[in-house]
Amino acid sequence: MNNTNLNPRDSKTVSPWQQQPGLDQQQEVVYSGTIYDVVIVGAGIAGLTTALLLQEQGKNCIILEGHNIGFGTTGATTAHLNTFLDTSYDQVEQDFGEDGARTLANATKESISLIQELVEKYQIDCDFTFKDGIIYSETEAETKSLLSLLEASRKAGVEAVEIRDNGIPVPFEFAVVFNDQAEFHPMKYCMGLAAAFKQLGGTIVENAFVRKTTTSDELQVAHTDHFEIKGRHLVYTTHMPPGLTVFDVECFPYRSYVLGIKLKNGDYPKNMAYDMKDPYHYIRTHTIDGQPHLILGGEDHKTGHDDPEAAFEALEAYARKYWYVESVDYRWSAQYYVPADGLPFIGKMPGFDDHTFVATGFSGNGMILGTISGKVFRDTILGKEDAYQKLFSPSRIKPVAGFKDFVAENADVAYHFVADRLSTEDMESFAELAPDSGEVVEYKGQKIAVYKDPQGQITALSPTCTHAGCIVKFNPVEKSWDCPCHGGRYDLKGQVITGPPVMNLEQINNPGE
Ligand code: FES
Repeated sequence: MNNTNLNPRDSKTVSPWQQQPGLDQQQEVVYSGTIYDVVIVGAGIAGLTTALLLQEQGKNCIILEGHNIGFGTTGATTAHLNTFLDTSYDQVEQDFGEDGARTLANATKESISLIQELVEKYQIDCDFTFKDGIIYSETEAETKSLLSLLEASRKAGVEAVEIRDNGIPVPFEFAVVFNDQAEFHPMKYCMGLAAAFKQLGGTIVENAFVRKTTTSDELQVAHTDHFEIKGRHLVYTTHMPPGLTVFDVECFPYRSYVLGIKLKNGDYPKNMAYDMKDPYHYIRTHTIDGQPHLILGGEDHKTGHDDPEAAFEALEAYARKYWYVESVDYRWSAQYYVPADGLPFIGKMPGFDDHTFVATGFSGNGMILGTISGKVFRDTILGKEDAYQKLFSPSRIKPVAGFKDFVAENADVAYHFVADRLSTEDMESFAELAPDSGEVVEYKGQKIAVYKDPQGQITALSPTCTHAGCIVKFNPVEKSWDCPCHGGRYDLKGQVITGPPVMNLEQINNPGE
C-alpha cells in the first residue's frame, strides 16, 4: 500500500478507498457577495448527491467542506448497497406500520437505481457491480428473527428467498438471499459525482469549516474562518449538524471496524454476507490494485467506549477462525449515528426556518440513505412532493417503542458527563506516559488531555469537549480524542475532525502552572 498522496480522512487508520486521487481543482476563489441557491455543508455522499441533483435542475450550488471530499464516514464505508437496512423491516413495520416499511423499501430500491443511473450518465468508473446479499442465522433464536425479517421484507416489497448455501465458510442454520444488491468503490464514485457537479458549474470549496450559520435578509449565511457564504437554502450533510441540536438526544454515535484481508487459498466470497449477531459481521470482496481482498466489518461499539484495539483483535480472530488469512493489508474504523427510532432524519431542521435542512442518523447504511437524502432535498427545495419526506421528517413524532433504548442511551450521556470528571487518575510526571499514547489525567491539580508523541514531545489540551462539556477519551488506534457523549472527535492538536463540536479543544501551553 502506498501511503503517499492518500486522501486524508478523520482517522489515522487507512481505508483502501483513500488511495483515490483527490479532485483536481484549483483552490476556488469565493466571493462573499455571491448569493447561491443552495449552500451544502459537507462533501460526503449525501452532500455531493444533493449538490449534483440540484445543479442538474439549474440551481446554483456551493459545497463547503471542512476538510476534503470523503474526509468523514464516506471515505471509510464498506460500500454495501442493500435493500435491507440495519433497522429490519419487521421492526419498521411494528413502529411505523406496513406503509412505513413499504416506503422505506422503495427508498432503498430507488437509491440503488439512482446510483446506477448516475454511474451510467456520468460514466463514473467506480467498480459498481450488482451482487446477491445473503443473511444467515447460526442459532434457533436468530433463525426465528430471520424468518420474521423475511416475511416483513416480502410484505414491504423486497423479494428474498431461502438459499441452501451462505457462500462463506461460516456454519449456518438458515439463510436468505436478497438479489440485486450492489457494491462500488465509494471514493471513485464520489469523485465522479464531484467532477460532474463542477462540470455543471457547481462550486466545491475544501478546507472551509463552517463554524456557524445565521440568517440575514431571509438568506442563510454560512460562516467559515475566512469568509461567509450566503444562500437561499442551507443543507447540512455532516452527519451531526454543528452545535447543540435535538439530534444530540436522538442520534447515538458508534464506531465500526473493518479489515481488508488477502487470503491464502483464493476463497473469496462471490456474494455479500451478513450474520444476525448484534453487532453483526458484514463481508464482501473487493479487488484493490488488482488483488482481491476480503472486506470484513463488525465489532461496533459506542464512540469513546470500549477498546478499539480489542475490536480489531476480535475481528481478526473471527477472520482466522473461518478463512486462511495470508495477510491483513488494511484495518480501519469509521463512525456512524444510530437514530433513536431506527429511521434516518432527512428534511427540514427542527427549530430552524423553512430553508435549513439536515440529513443524519443513517446507521450503517450511509451510502443508501445518503443517496436518497439527495433526492429528498432536491424535491423539497424544488417544491415537489416526495414519497419519503413524511417518513424521514426530522420533526416526526417518535413511536413509543424505539429501535434504540432512548432512555438508556441518554442516561449513558449523563453518566459520562458526571463520572468521567470524577474518575481521572493523578499523574506525577509525564515520564509515566508511554510514547505515542494519550490519557486524561490530573496533573498538578489540573485536568488535562495529554499526548506524548513517539519522540517524547508532550501536547496538553483541555479535556472538556467544546460541544456540551463531556470529557474526551483517547482513541489509541485513530490517535484522536473522542467524546463519549455525542461522538465529537478531535485530532492530536485538538482540532475538530468530527461534529457536532465546532470549536477546537483548548491548547494548554504550560500544564500545571
Ligand atoms: Fe457532545 Fe462532546 S460531542 S459533549
